[in-house]
Amino acid sequence: MDWNALEEAVQNCRNCPLCATRTNVVFGTGDKNADLLFIGEAPGEQEDLTGTPFVGRAGQLLDKFLFAVGIPREKVYIANTLKCRPPHNRDPLPEEKEKCMPYLREQVRLISPRVIVCLGRVSATRLIGPDFHITKDHGKWFKKGNFWMTAVYHPAFLLRDPRKKEDMLTDMKEIRRKLDELTNQGE
Ligand code: URA
Repeated sequence: MDWNALEEAVQNCRNCPLCATRTNVVFGTGDKNADLLFIGEAPGEQEDLTGTPFVGRAGQLLDKFLFAVGIPREKVYIANTLKCRPPHNRDPLPEEKEKCMPYLREQVRLISPRVIVCLGRVSATRLIGPDFHITKDHGKWFKKGNFWMTAVYHPAFLLRDPRKKEDMLTDMKEIRRKLDELTNQGE
């Protein structure tokens, strides 16, 4: 599948009940040749209204961390495990994640990033492993196939617990370092 076919399939998706309550599909945004791919949980209210991931308060906080480590937002790609907003921002249901997963897999294949960063627990347990514990395992590296994976706290969690922002900055600096290392060695 190419990008156009994939986006059209996602825009017209009726594979789960979230299609009935969404305002917009939130496909993903950014550089389709990015070295760095961020994967969040699911669209929130602002994302549902605009069709763009991470544009609400959590997204603005993510932008600040990207800025702090010198990574331009337009140089990364940002997607979510779910393309449609769960009502009242509840956690995605297992069957919703399963139905939506093939779309994310295609995005990963097409982008072929060097580094994938899961934003928060929901994304990390789905993509890195069910035993992943965000408080204990954030910032650790996992080599999966051709790319490196890690997870950081979800920015919405940091809004509720600002003391964790220090850990987030450390993790984001490490992500920047890893990217530089991989780019320099052409890995
Ligand atoms: N939270 C997410 O996980 N994704 C978004 O796109 C916005 C908020």
